[in-house]
Amino acid sequence: MRHLMSPLDFSVEELDTLLSLAQDIEAHPEKYAHACAGKKLATLFYEPSTRTRLSHEAAMLNLGGSIMGFSTADSSSATKGESVSDTIRTVSCYADICAMRHPKEGAPMVACEHSRIPVINAGDGGHQHPTQTLTDLLTIKNLKGRLDNMTIGLCGDLKFGRTVHSLIHALVRYSGIKFVLISPEELRLPDYMRLDVLDKKNVPYKEVVRLEDALPELDILYMTRVQKERFFNEEDYVRMKDFYILDRKKMKSAPQDMQVLHPLPRVNEIAVEVDEDPRAAYFKQVQYGVYVRMALILTLLDIHVD
Ligand code: NCD
Repeated sequence: MRHLMSPLDFSVEELDTLLSLAQDIEAHPEKYAHACAGKKLATLFYEPSTRTRLSHEAAMLNLGGSIMGFSTADSSSATKGESVSDTIRTVSCYADICAMRHPKEGAPMVACEHSRIPVINAGDGGHQHPTQTLTDLLTIKNLKGRLDNMTIGLCGDLKFGRTVHSLIHALVRYSGIKFVLISPEELRLPDYMRLDVLDKKNVPYKEVVRLEDALPELDILYMTRVQKERFFNEEDYVRMKDFYILDRKKMKSAPQDMQVLHPLPRVNEIAVEVDEDPRAAYFKQVQYGVYVRMALILTLLDIHVD
């Protein structure tokens, strides 16, 4: 049985197969409409979510399966003190696969150790968010035609942003990838990512504070929200929250074929006026997130459609 805890759980070849499956699903949705008939997905969300929970649910419904779950910790027995391991033992009796989001790093890992069904990590604290990474990879592949030989700007909260951490882990496996890490000093990419991932793999990167300085050389700009819920005090958050605002004026200095991605939700970091720019890819990214999660569910359940 397979789980998805980190994007590294799939080899580069397996990722390639998964992304091709997602592309086939997009092209021929009808072929897959009943692939999961009789199967159930449980979504166990101990932290707020819009896209991640609903896209997993949409994915299972599009495959002809059914869904169940909870969307807040306080509507589950977690409030009565139930452990993650007891909850997953229980859910294993009801569902065929589950997606779990939890504020504690490693909680989905604890779950998979006690689970009889595949567990998908739908975000664990400031640690990882592998299904967002699958979404990001499919978006880049669809829009740029490749995953290698690219300069990627990661902008915003690189300290707490789990989507950034997972995306870096995934992209360093492709050749010719360079990163520009754009953040205020306080929200820099943590040492365990810089030293243990980028330096160890000799991946070229530079760190800059000003977005304007990075824009002209980017193929992809990956914007992120300042992760309010991970700050220890409100004052620091308020000081940081509007540090970056991508607007129409800044977009003028970006290459014509650069693509702007954002895992969403957006707060202020991308002005709404940018949505009309053909380079704004974040809502396409939302759509790709459904296809890639359909491909993921089929893969983890080992269901093949000819
Ligand atoms: C992200 C997350 O939850 O980490 N959202 C998402 O799943 N698309 C990003 C965020 O909350 O800022």
